[in-house]
Amino acid sequence: MRERFGLSLLFAWAGGLAKSLAERVKKGGPNLTSNTALVAILEKAKELDVPKEILERNIKRASEKGQESYKEKIYEVYGFGGVSIVVEVSTDKVNRSVAAVREVVKDYGGKMADPGSVMFKFRRARVVNIKVTDADKDQLLNIALDAGAEDVIEPSISEDDADEDKLESYYKVVSSPENYSAILSKLREEGIAFEPDNGSELLPITTIEVDDEAMDLNKELMSSLLDLDDVDAVYTDQE
Ligand SMILES: *[C@@H]1O[C@H](CO)[C@@H](O)[C@H](O)[C@H]1NC(C)=O
Ligand SMILES: *[C@@H]1O[C@H](CO)[C@@H](O)[C@H](O)[C@H]1NC(C)=O
Ligand SMILES: *[C@@H]1O[C@H](CO)[C@@H](O)[C@H](O)[C@H]1NC(C)=O
Ligand SMILES: *[C@@H]1O[C@H](CO)[C@@H](O)[C@H](O)[C@H]1NC(C)=O
Repeated sequence: MRERFGLSLLFAWAGGLAKSLAERVKKGGPNLTSNTALVAILEKAKELDVPKEILERNIKRASEKGQESYKEKIYEVYGFGGVSIVVEVSTDKVNRSVAAVREVVKDYGGKMADPGSVMFKFRRARVVNIKVTDADKDQLLNIALDAGAEDVIEPSISEDDADEDKLESYYKVVSSPENYSAILSKLREEGIAFEPDNGSELLPITTIEVDDEAMDLNKELMSSLLDLDDVDAVYTDQE
């Protein structure tokens, strides 16, 4: 059976997880009986085999210094070629993160959008990401639909795309929250490597096709946004 994912991804995930965990502890306290949101996070961590010591250390640290709290923010951005972009941020310094997002958007030629002006083009769902190189499409479809998934979205890669683009392309298995863990178990059982979401993902309701120039500019804009410390995720409706 293959390794589920590399160590670096685990730590990247644990970074995001630590933030959510700290936030839950600060909101609801460290008591697992009364703080059900914390229990949900711990279950997620267990699925990812995050070591228990790390979790305990994080709970302890968060309950000791409860003064600064992480806030989740969403920024909406117009990209190139009529594309919409949504940036998810989790930060203990809102002013710092909004300034950083604005600066990157300006530097890379995007435009900040008013709250609500692009969000309606997306919907929230649970998503499991599977590298196209890690699974056979038909096999994946069978497994996912059998375990209660809504849909399997194929990445838009063409035959002549570079191999390195293929390495970074994922199938997205879309599901309701209630069927999510059944899908993860089934994939695990079948030995298919996957990356879970961090609670949910935004999926575009319809996708927009753009020319190569706009695609390159959007790619630069989005990867620069992702490079920001406080940015957890960047979503787009670009095809
Ligand atoms: C979950 O969050 C972490 C840190 O914010 C990020 O590095 C990782 O890519 C996210 N995972 C997914 C599947 O979005
Ligand atoms: C945790 O919460 C439960 C229910 O609210 C309570 O009965 C219990 O005493 C609490 N435990 C601690 C260690 O505070
Ligand atoms: C953050 O920004 C708000 C509004 O722009 C301002 O009133 C506040 O003083 C700023 N806080 C800090 C710590 O800079
Ligand atoms: C969950 O999966 C079952 C089949 O395993 C399916 O009948 C049901 O519709 C799914 N629920 C949702 C909300 O998609």
